[in-house]
Amino acid sequence: MPTPSLPPGPRAPRAIQQLAWMLRPVPLMERCRRAYGDAFTLRIADQGTWVFLAHPDAVKEVFTADPAVLHAGEANRVLRPWLGEHSVLLLDDDAHLAQRRLLLPPFHGQRMQRYEALMTELAQREVARWPAGEPFALWPHMQAVTLEVIVQAIFGEREGPRLDRLRAALRAAAASTTSWRTMLKMATLGPDRLAADAAFRRRMAPVDEVVHETIAARRAEHERGGERDDILSLLLDARHEDGSPMTDAELRDELMTLLVAGHETSATSLAWAVERLVRHPEALDRLAAGDDDYVDAVVKETLRLRPVIPIVARRATAPVRIAGWDLPAGTMVAPCIHLVHRRPDVYPDPHRFRPERFLERPAGTYTWIPFGGGVRRCLGASFAQFEMRAILRVIARRRRLAPARPPRERARRRAVTLVPDRGAEVVAWPA
Ligand code: HEM
Repeated sequence: MPTPSLPPGPRAPRAIQQLAWMLRPVPLMERCRRAYGDAFTLRIADQGTWVFLAHPDAVKEVFTADPAVLHAGEANRVLRPWLGEHSVLLLDDDAHLAQRRLLLPPFHGQRMQRYEALMTELAQREVARWPAGEPFALWPHMQAVTLEVIVQAIFGEREGPRLDRLRAALRAAAASTTSWRTMLKMATLGPDRLAADAAFRRRMAPVDEVVHETIAARRAEHERGGERDDILSLLLDARHEDGSPMTDAELRDELMTLLVAGHETSATSLAWAVERLVRHPEALDRLAAGDDDYVDAVVKETLRLRPVIPIVARRATAPVRIAGWDLPAGTMVAPCIHLVHRRPDVYPDPHRFRPERFLERPAGTYTWIPFGGGVRRCLGASFAQFEMRAILRVIARRRRLAPARPPRERARRRAVTLVPDRGAEVVAWPA
């Protein structure tokens, strides 16, 4: 057994490192990269020892390692109160793979086409509500449209009285994952006791009720032989290895997972896309002209330069050798999306927003990692990129846009995501 070794890192007390990670994550990562190189160790108060990795070779080692040795589900445990015990995000090993296999088919890239008309229509309705000629923050509007996409394309609720209840309940559930009140409770109780906490359960009860009603409605339509193409209806056809269908409890947990994993991330990525585009009018003009490859390049460049999730995490269940270091069991291993995406050897002039780079060279498996990788790669990666392309096309064609104020927006932390600090403020006029 080799002697455990950890990459170098700051010597500040844990509490100080934790504070820097909470309040100023981007400067902290960049400072550490300059001071210590492509692998460094941070000590974060209640979460142990984190090894950040900024080299694509090390990222490859993590994404191709035995998933039994690098657990991702454990690292997501804080989400248990909302997602429940069946969620693919929280499971590891065989249980994770079994659940992932059930969810994969409806999210296959080639199947996304079926949502294009719906996404375009929802984006057109949203854009029509924007004020003309006065500054406003785009981010809440992107939250509204990505929530609507989830309600309609994933839950399959397109009209009727339940639509409003479901939308309101999901909005409340998503908001509670980032509220300070819940964060404080989480800090004192931990995820398992928060999940069982009576006040928390009371707040979640209306959400569970309407989600279960929606599942029952889709099931009834499905049994009547109705042809539906929402993700929930497709999941009703999924079968476990023993041939049994998913239970209502599993469906509920996975639907909440898709909401929590897919709503803020997509909304914030869209807000960043527009924040960058309004400061690059030539890119905005080219986007409006509508060449499909260019729209895709804009999406890829946004996710490179402004990844909403700056790291992914795995907990080592046993000693593991990565990037030449013998990391002890218990270490959190963190491929650093933010730093990998800013490597000048991979992306010349890395801080510049230049979508063309993805027309010149395709995105690499271990150098373009906004959706993580390996057996944990984001299940919604095709869905999210398809959605971003559809919505950005509508925005660029229907509105002329300018920044409300010239200085670029900085990244501010909101729970695990990095959002534009002024909410992507713009001024818009009908095109
Ligand atoms: C731009 C938008 C999005 C970004 C940046 C994003 C990013 C990520 C990342 C970084 C992970 C962790 C990967 C890893 O640990 O290696 C993840 C996992 C996941 N995402 Fe996304 N995501 C987005 C949109 C979505 C959407 C729209 C959905 C579904 C509707 C979704 C569903 C999931 C699920 C289910 C997982 C867990 C996969 C597993 O553990 O096996 N995501 N996502």
